Amino acid sequence: MTATHSPTAAASGANATERFKSDKLAGVAGTPKERVSLLAREVLEAVHATIRKHKVTYDEYNALKSWLISVGEDGEWPLFLDVWVEHVVEEVATEHRKGNKGTIEGPYYVPDAPEQGARGSVPTRENEPGTALTWTGQVTSTTGEALGGAKVELWHADADGLYSQFAPGIPEWNLRGTFTTDEEGRFEIRTVRPAPYQIPTDGACGKLIAAAGWHAWRPAHLHVKVSAPGHELLTAQLYFPGDEHNDDDIASAVKPELLLDPKPAENGETVEYSFVLDPAL
Ligand SMILES: [Fe+2]
Repeated sequence: MTATHSPTAAASGANATERFKSDKLAGVAGTPKERVSLLAREVLEAVHATIRKHKVTYDEYNALKSWLISVGEDGEWPLFLDVWVEHVVEEVATEHRKGNKGTIEGPYYVPDAPEQGARGSVPTRENEPGTALTWTGQVTSTTGEALGGAKVELWHADADGLYSQFAPGIPEWNLRGTFTTDEEGRFEIRTVRPAPYQIPTDGACGKLIAAAGWHAWRPAHLHVKVSAPGHELLTAQLYFPGDEHNDDDIASAVKPELLLDPKPAENGETVEYSFVLDPAL
């Protein structure tokens, strides 16, 4: 499998950084100073406690400093945070929910993917590699009401583990689409099975993984965002049974509720998976 991203990590990281800055930075400006002070102080105290506990040396401190500088230079702050931190933020943000479990968004979402109606295919290349997958489902509320007009945004890696707009040579909206449920809240999506992939290994995150003797793999997954007026946005990833990295995902994003159950079909596979959205807070 050619999923090492070696020529593309820097470009991919720079892309993710630019996208984040343009889309989201304005939203963080209003955090009250008491909250900033509390959180910054406690994070620093946790760092100080680790230094004392393990008697961190100047060599180790300088290695950390050098590595932190390279995370920025490689544009890998979105990757680092989304792989090693976001899963706990997601857990805290959604613990009140009665509807579907979600999981992390990761760094490769792009809004406004082409609209495909209630039933259709994501944009693909001619002869897109990978097993054909037909996914049917329904979007309902926690009170059992069908949510017609709900949006199901899907994005995922290709059979080489690469994302359009973050790896070179892939058409802009490949394997990215927006579906709108019919009046019964139903949708049918045709795509291909994504491949497991390693997060980029030639940048700063890869250096940490190599230095620590970890692995860089994420299990194969479909990313989705499901939204409907008056309901909480659900961001999730769906996984495939039997993937060897379901149990040790580097991003800690797998939950048992997010496992699909695909069945062999005449042309590839079919799978059913539906969503229950919580009312907006
Ligand atoms: Fe992903």
